[in-house]
Amino acid sequence: MKISRAVNIEDLRIAAKRALPRMVFDYIDGGADDEITLRKNTERLRAHELIWDCLVDVTKIDTRTKVMGSELALPFVLSPTALQRMFHVDGEKAAAAAAGKAGIAYGLSTLGTTTVEDVAKATPGPKWYQIYVWKDHGLVREILARAKAAGFTGAVLTVDLPVAGHRERDTRNQFSIPPSMKPYIVWQAIQKPRWLYRTLTSPKMVPANFPGAAEGDPRSISQQVAAQYDQSVTWKDAAWMIDAWGGPFAIKGVAHADDARRALDIGASCVWVSNHGGRQLETCPATIDVLPEIVDAVGGRGEIVFDSGVRRGTDIVKALALGATAVAVGRAYLYGLAAGGEAGVSRAIQILADDVRRTMALIGAKDIASIARRHVRMR
Ligand SMILES: Cc1cc2nc3c(=O)[nH]c(=O)nc-3n(C[C@H](O)[C@H](O)[C@H](O)COP(=O)(O)O)c2cc1C
Repeated sequence: MKISRAVNIEDLRIAAKRALPRMVFDYIDGGADDEITLRKNTERLRAHELIWDCLVDVTKIDTRTKVMGSELALPFVLSPTALQRMFHVDGEKAAAAAAGKAGIAYGLSTLGTTTVEDVAKATPGPKWYQIYVWKDHGLVREILARAKAAGFTGAVLTVDLPVAGHRERDTRNQFSIPPSMKPYIVWQAIQKPRWLYRTLTSPKMVPANFPGAAEGDPRSISQQVAAQYDQSVTWKDAAWMIDAWGGPFAIKGVAHADDARRALDIGASCVWVSNHGGRQLETCPATIDVLPEIVDAVGGRGEIVFDSGVRRGTDIVKALALGATAVAVGRAYLYGLAAGGEAGVSRAIQILADDVRRTMALIGAKDIASIARRHVRMR
């Protein structure tokens, strides 16, 4: 299917499935264990109902908003996701460029396969850098300084991954990062000759901002990450990092009111409500169900970014109506990236943007500030 003919995110998902070897598609598409939370995130968003105000002048719809110090043309951002050059050779550059052209923020993952400097070249738009806490705090300080020098204005600390979730599709597919050359894997790859050709003829995929990558560390990316990942991280480390960054700072992976309060108490400017798209703790609640209590706990003291399960503009409007400042999307744009590089990401953004504008007109909200709790209800 031509990317321009995709009418919704599901169309891009199907196109991504056609373009990628199964193990790579499953890495994007899958979740933890029985994928209950993965499904629930979207199902619960859909179960919320939208209500409209009638007879409102909606000739001009203004979708602009501000979050993490960044002015956005649309109320959503591209969430940080790992290893984008594995999904399409243009990887992070393509996604960042599409975000920049649409006037929205791009989140670069710690496990990104493009340097902070190259991402900065790809987009003059707002950029946020996502971090985990490595054992070596010096390395964290170094990468934060590099990101800042390259023009990244926001930092995002992900806290819902003390260990990796159990993603059974990956285990069954013998998936490793980067993929190994076992016959079973090679067989999957040769069925997608275009992906294989592009991958084999482009520079080796490495975690470009990760310690060791530059020296050509022979270990797999998963091994490098496991060796550096600090499972003893606590609120003290998060406070240290907020201080080291000295700018807009989000704690990503919060799903409880007490943690939201604590994040603000230690100086974070933004609480990022997320369950990693159902890839981490299985059977945790859908994020839309915990959003209201977190909004109440934050009580206007900070900003709130919402993610997990968003596939439609109506999903975005519902999260805004319940009190999120902005929404982040993960898989929705990754399907586009896999299906068509920058054009595919732009198509995903366009689909969601059109949805948001239409939904705002239909509920009678002419700007983001007019979207209110009365517009959404749960039966
Ligand atoms: C393939 C993939 C890789 C991801 N990698 C990261 C990552 O490196 N860092 C991070 O904070 N979140 C990561 N996430 C989580 C996303 O930032 C986001 O929270 C999640 O995708 C939202 O759910 P959605 O995909 O349903 O929109 C990843 C998600 C996916 C699908």
